[in-house]
Amino acid sequence: MGCPVMRRLRQSAEWRLVFGAIWQAHRPLAALWTGLLVLRALLPPALAISMGVLVSAVKAGRPLGGPLVLLGIVFIAFQALSPLHSELSRTLAAVVTNFLNDRLMRASVGPQGMAHLEDPALADDFTLARDFDIGVTGPSLIFSMSFVANGLVEIASGAVGGLILFAYHWWAPFFVCAGWLSTHVLLRESAVWREWRSAEVMEHQRHADYAYRIAVDAPAAKELRLFGLGGWATNRFATRRRRLLDMSLEAMRLRERSVVWTMLVILAGNGLFFWALATDAAAGRVSLGAGIVFAQTAVGASALAFGEFDWWFRTAAQPVPVVESLEGAMQEVGGLASGTASAHGMPAQEILFRSVRFTYETNEQPVLDGLDLAIPAGTSMAIVGQNGAGKTTLAKLLCRFYDPQDGAIEVDGVDIRDLELTEWRSRVAAVFQDYVKYERPLRENVAPAGAPDDVILRSLEDAGARDLADLDTILSRQYAGGTDLSGGQWQRVALARAICALHLGAGVVILDEPTAQLDVRGEAEIFDRILQATKGKTTILVSHRFSTVRHADRIAVVEAGRVVELGSHEELMALGGRYRTMFELQAGRFAEPEEEQGEVLV
Ligand SMILES: Nc1ncnc2c1ncn2[C@@H]1O[C@H](COP(=O)(O)OP(=O)(O)O)[C@@H](O)[C@H]1O
Ligand SMILES: [Mg+2]
Repeated sequence: MGCPVMRRLRQSAEWRLVFGAIWQAHRPLAALWTGLLVLRALLPPALAISMGVLVSAVKAGRPLGGPLVLLGIVFIAFQALSPLHSELSRTLAAVVTNFLNDRLMRASVGPQGMAHLEDPALADDFTLARDFDIGVTGPSLIFSMSFVANGLVEIASGAVGGLILFAYHWWAPFFVCAGWLSTHVLLRESAVWREWRSAEVMEHQRHADYAYRIAVDAPAAKELRLFGLGGWATNRFATRRRRLLDMSLEAMRLRERSVVWTMLVILAGNGLFFWALATDAAAGRVSLGAGIVFAQTAVGASALAFGEFDWWFRTAAQPVPVVESLEGAMQEVGGLASGTASAHGMPAQEILFRSVRFTYETNEQPVLDGLDLAIPAGTSMAIVGQNGAGKTTLAKLLCRFYDPQDGAIEVDGVDIRDLELTEWRSRVAAVFQDYVKYERPLRENVAPAGAPDDVILRSLEDAGARDLADLDTILSRQYAGGTDLSGGQWQRVALARAICALHLGAGVVILDEPTAQLDVRGEAEIFDRILQATKGKTTILVSHRFSTVRHADRIAVVEAGRVVELGSHEELMALGGRYRTMFELQAGRFAEPEEEQGEVLV
């Protein structure tokens, strides 16, 4: 039956690093590293023995050539293997780091949904798994791996030393063990700081890190200066860092007492051992050569009693189980099962939200609360509502980033959960408010998955962005020959992205306020342009403004997770409800003639 200690050992982060991750990452390197480790572990005992052999030879008047050569070889190996092993440790650590990074990337990209990236319960693990190699959550693996190697060498070497001492007396190895165990147990108990990942440490670290980034990252530079936040950032960083330092000092003070006890244990053990050895040697029960071997072995073995090996080992190893557990957890939280029905040519009749109820995992209040909405295929639908009304959520549900808890979204009568997921997504072209500005050429910003140049150019033209830049120009100043665009230009690129997807055959386009940075007139112009370019396609325009969407075939007013008004601009104006009030309020701020101009700008 499985021994519980062994089982715990096998589940430990340390075990999973040394017997799992390094082998999965690179078998030959791991074998070389382990081989060198064993070799290095044999050297201190070998040195003790060759010393003993040499002294015996001197004493017996035998030729010294052989013993000297042996000593020389061991000594040279000592000199050479340690730096070699360090170098190998760094390389192996880099490979393991890549391996873990790669697994994390797969784990986060893998699930078809996205709830796993927003789950606070996974946030700390995610931070550790993401940042362990940049030294934020602890020393990087590349840095700590040679400490781990050295510590393991000492332990293995201590074990071999124990065997040698066993030849002296059955009880002798226990002194070595006592020393090692006492540091192991006593210092382990004292290490408050050992938990880099304790909630408190993580929290301080996160705040300190955030303040640091605000201060040094370019994107925050404007507001930092404008709002005079420089002092806030530096103070916050200093306070949080001081608290972390205090905690580590506190841990060190706690350590002091344990260190005293450890010293006493080791002193007592060694005292007894050497006293016994001296007595035996004096009485001639132990030869000079053997005495030297035993004495040196005992000295070498007690070297492993100190150091912070446990701490280094745990710190180095902890990303391994964290990444492993995230793989499962992320799939569980963010995974969505694909259906099997074909989405080919959809939507041909209509998109139907049927009593959709949706609550985010972290919230108590539902965002969509029994929402009903039918969008006939080939028509345009505007969805308007105040900030927080649930418009973006509705768009995300249509892309099936999450599944509703109740009700269903049906396309041509088929629940989108039953559709083949990637095929359905390829039918949807969506641009969200926080669309991505790829640090890639303009061409790829319009068609991230690729498209013929003439389609890309036509899309840019449709979006009113014809002469922005050459298709090959990288849209970032971080690259030679690259350029950056203004906010408005970027929005047109994002629109071109959606239009291009339509040209490539997508069946429905969703624009979730990518125009929010524009003024009312700018947004109205863009929307009209889009409606023109997507005539006859299923188009969904989302806006918190009531005065920019009047040319959509239908307008749905969303409030508190439901559609409260639905109809064309004229119908809703005639209705004299929410839409009309908001429309007049917002449109009234602009001179009517100019507002009308919006129509001819197309
Ligand atoms: N990922 C999320 N996790 C938790 N709550 C969210 C998330 N996204 C949005 N919410 C909340 O859901 C509500 C609706 O948000 P959203 O759909 O973005 O509104 P809108 O797009 O209409 O402004 C808001 O109260 C918002 O705080
Ligand atoms: Mg929104």
